[in-house]
Amino acid sequence: MFISNAIPRGIIYHRVIQDLRRLAKSLFLDLNKSPQIAQFEDEFATYMGRKHCIAFPSARIALYYSLKSLKLSEGSEIIMPPITIKGILDVVIDLGLKPVFVDLDPETLCFDIDLLRKTIGDNTKVALITYLFGIVPDIEQMVRVFKAHNVYVLEDFSQCLDGMYNDKKVGGFGDIGIYSASSTKTLDTYGGGLLVCDEVQTKQNMQAAQGELFRSKRLSLINKIIIDLIRNLATTRLIFSLFTFPFIRIMARMRPGNMLKHTGERNKEMIKTLPVEWFLSYSSFQAEMGGKWLKEVHQANKRRVKNVLEIKQRAGNTNFPKGTDRARNIYWRLLAYFDEPYRAQAHLNKNGIDTSITSLELISNLSAYPTQGITPVAKNICNNGLFIPCYPSLGSKDIDRICHALNSYSV
Ligand SMILES: Cc1ncc(COP(=O)(O)O)c(C=O)c1O
Repeated sequence: MFISNAIPRGIIYHRVIQDLRRLAKSLFLDLNKSPQIAQFEDEFATYMGRKHCIAFPSARIALYYSLKSLKLSEGSEIIMPPITIKGILDVVIDLGLKPVFVDLDPETLCFDIDLLRKTIGDNTKVALITYLFGIVPDIEQMVRVFKAHNVYVLEDFSQCLDGMYNDKKVGGFGDIGIYSASSTKTLDTYGGGLLVCDEVQTKQNMQAAQGELFRSKRLSLINKIIIDLIRNLATTRLIFSLFTFPFIRIMARMRPGNMLKHTGERNKEMIKTLPVEWFLSYSSFQAEMGGKWLKEVHQANKRRVKNVLEIKQRAGNTNFPKGTDRARNIYWRLLAYFDEPYRAQAHLNKNGIDTSITSLELISNLSAYPTQGITPVAKNICNNGLFIPCYPSLGSKDIDRICHALNSYSV
């Protein structure tokens, strides 16, 4: 059956025309103008309510230098989320640290606080808190637990820009906050890792690290813009309905039971050395867009959260994570749990709604790496949590269709 107005599972947070303009400009504009980078760093720090921001090429590289500057001895333990991108684990291993995985709370998608208390030991030196899919846990309590044990706290708020706890933005609770401005994020500047902090010493260390990076390369930037452009085109409504969605459905028929992720298998091998391309500076070209697009984040978030609240209210029998009191979740993605995700995905597909499980890796379960963890809740989030479309551009008819599909799915 052809569905004339299929709903993609996600979007790129800028318009196709913006990508096209940026692509044209990226061919000749200067990439290395320091004052523009400094200006955007100031704007982002102010937006976050933090004193300083230092821009890196990616979140993983911001993490790399944050950890490196702590000068921890080999084998020091870092408490890690079991779900994130593999690159985060790669930098931890490269620095000789030992990842310790703490399983997640299914309602907040962040560390289970009781397990956390049991896991912290004398050798725990750092913790990386990650706000998965834009849900905020009781971060005050969590940071208190870490600080009672003298643990240095990093927050990865890549999926939760604007999320709050007790009216304070996440990314502002730990020693350092890190945001990835990569493709599909709510502030996407064709890549980037924005580190925020308050300590002058941290700022100086990070600026010194920033100075070690290689100059930005035009080709690398163009490549990122083209990837965004292709994703953007593939998810515009008309193209998605005419080509992308039918293609997804054909693939689903050809490979039944193998389509939950939709992104193909990624390489799960451990890398020997961090690639040189990871160390190319954040460009002034990206900073300039960051400054412009930062102004749009708040409104887009408001519309998406409104959509989520409506879907959650009208599809009351669907099993969504409950979150916690005093949190303002941002729902970069709206996760719903299903006992039979393949069947739920097929049902939503039949109603013209595209869904997938997360493309993030269950990094606690990578056999090629020296350390694994027993994290059944995280495994369930990866395997049984489907993303329900909720982005700002959905119209009221789309929301009707999503609610109807969820309500007509029989468990
Ligand atoms: C939680 C989280 N951390 C980090 C990243 C990406 O980091 P990087 O900027 O290094 O690509 C992502 C991107 O998908 C992410 O979702």
